Amino acid sequence: MKRAVPAFSSTGPTSVRLDGVDLLSFHGCGYLGLAHDPHVRAAAHEAIDRFGVSGLASRNTSGNLELHERLEERLSEFFGTEAALVLTDGYLADIAAAQALRHAPGQLPDDADRVALHDADVHPSITDALSSAGFQSFGYGAGDMSHALALLDLHKDGAPLVATDGAFAMHGRLAPAAELLRHLPTNANLLIDDSHGVGVVGRTGRGVVELFGLDDPRIILTGSLAKALGSAGGFIAGSAETVEAVRRHASSFSGTTALAPPLCAAAITSLDLIEAEPERLERLRANIGQLHRTARRVGLRSTGTFLPVLRIEMESEDDARRLSAALHVEGIFAPAIRYHGASTRGLVRCAVTSEHTAAELRRLEETLIRHLPEPPIR
Ligand SMILES: Cc1ncc(COP(=O)(O)O)c(C=O)c1O
Repeated sequence: MKRAVPAFSSTGPTSVRLDGVDLLSFHGCGYLGLAHDPHVRAAAHEAIDRFGVSGLASRNTSGNLELHERLEERLSEFFGTEAALVLTDGYLADIAAAQALRHAPGQLPDDADRVALHDADVHPSITDALSSAGFQSFGYGAGDMSHALALLDLHKDGAPLVATDGAFAMHGRLAPAAELLRHLPTNANLLIDDSHGVGVVGRTGRGVVELFGLDDPRIILTGSLAKALGSAGGFIAGSAETVEAVRRHASSFSGTTALAPPLCAAAITSLDLIEAEPERLERLRANIGQLHRTARRVGLRSTGTFLPVLRIEMESEDDARRLSAALHVEGIFAPAIRYHGASTRGLVRCAVTSEHTAAELRRLEETLIRHLPEPPIR
């Protein structure tokens, strides 16, 4: 039976093995190549040897390991926040943050009409988080500050929660986070899910908060450890009060098994490497520049020239699948994808990492030139 999605028999930082063949890959979100770094892998192995594969219980019962607390200290240091909390994935981090903000007594009243405003392009982890936590939520147009301001004005008396992705990798844009914060009522919160900005955006890879110089206790930063950090898991970083509210009030934190020890150890080592090896981010930036130059040279519209993802929009899903298949025949893996909420007809997603070589990027460009149909939607 033909598989709907490929199942790799092994992967490397820039390669996948599929049906016995090694392909040069431009997929996924391992933007800094950390999932395959020898130090990260060694840390994960060592954690398995010390703790086993799983924490086997919720943090609130008997699953709390030194590794979790070390990772949380490391995350709060990294982001310069008072506190941080680790969850089993990034999706759950948004849910836990919304649950806490909706129900924490004292911080935000338990009011049936709690309102949340969110960018129209947010990841479904945010919209699911808002609806499952019982917020009445309203979307504003993608990056549309005047729409966001009109909604903020309408709901300013209800201390609305504003929620947005930090970096919209597939849309090639960043949230107008500084402007949102500037107009946020004093008793409101701004939730920024910076899953794709962390490790990529900002001078040292601290994400949009670093890029825009934001430091405000009303910000709740969430994200996935499974993108540039090369591990898996999720985090919430912010004021000690907010993080404590998540610990106390988020059933998605207290009712789930703690993040697995090797994943904690891997994430700690990744944070260490991001700081110790700034050249990784420099290499990624060089490759991002090359990817978007390629896009322009092959006639594609390239947006978000500071982000590691190129979206190739095609007439139809069939066209996208045909392009991906043609690249595959040439030994390149760049998947045709469906993106939640996307209005486009067909998409091929190409992502670069710090580990791609100049020769590999040239090969991508030459192959795209040969196989992009005329005229694609560019
Ligand atoms: C913006 C954003 N938030 C949250 C998530 C979910 O993260 P995780 O895969 O760790 O659950 C993703 C993953 O695709 C994401 O892109």
